[in-house]
Amino acid sequence: MTNMTQTQSPITQEHIDFYQENGFVQVDNMLSPEELAELREYLEEAMQTEGDLSQSTDKKGGLYYRVLNQKVNLWRDHAGMGKYSFHPRFAASALALTGASGIRFFHDHGLWKMPGDSKATPWHQDTPYWPINEAQAGMMSLWLTLDDVNEDNGCMAFVPKSHKLGKLTGIDFLNPQNIFDYVDGGQSEEHKPVIVPLKAGSCTFHNGLTFHYAHSNVTDKPRRVLAIIFMPDGVTFNGKSHPVTDGCGLQAGEPIKGPLFPLLANADA
Ligand code: SIN
Ligand code: NI
Repeated sequence: MTNMTQTQSPITQEHIDFYQENGFVQVDNMLSPEELAELREYLEEAMQTEGDLSQSTDKKGGLYYRVLNQKVNLWRDHAGMGKYSFHPRFAASALALTGASGIRFFHDHGLWKMPGDSKATPWHQDTPYWPINEAQAGMMSLWLTLDDVNEDNGCMAFVPKSHKLGKLTGIDFLNPQNIFDYVDGGQSEEHKPVIVPLKAGSCTFHNGLTFHYAHSNVTDKPRRVLAIIFMPDGVTFNGKSHPVTDGCGLQAGEPIKGPLFPLLANADA
């Protein structure tokens, strides 16, 4: 990692094969210690400052806040966050893993799991929440932790190969259905989750269709994560309301593009 450049991705063929087969992959040391320190500073600022363009999902004391203290579009209010949300290394990694011809930015979000009556993030897929037509089109999330994470403070778990099950129903985070009820055969041995503890500065990438879960945080410190959603170039808008696309002037059926959704990596480059 010490010699890694801005754009050079740490992704190996082994990462690609694992991601394609299982729908998620762990990538250690995505950030250098210097980058980790800088991003912690920026993310703390961005999460605490009231901005005009970023949006918190819920207020302290709310039910959703117990699952996630979530703030979307941090980059729009904080230039330092832009440096990381648009980081060429992250987008180059997404390009390599998906095999897409280009990678566009959809949105970033701070995902903090707060101490004190913390709730687990229920098993879900991400794709049902996004206003896109191409359900199978390789949307993905980078989940980058700024703290060491384990089962005590909200590390993630994934069901290998679940991205091959197709798009199921969106799960209600406050009164969650059991996602395995929507799977033929239920939660069999075949769908055994893998728990992924990580060191600070490391990350996972997961396909938008992959089942994932995060443990509750029973420690006394927040679990600080920056997540970034990437989409293959050409994904089209389905016309449904979503905080990230509302007011952008996109028409149903149009490819999602423009300055709010920049092309960050290109296979021809
Ligand atoms: C979490 O950070 O708790 C959940 C992340 C996700 O759903 O992608
Ligand atoms: Ni998710």
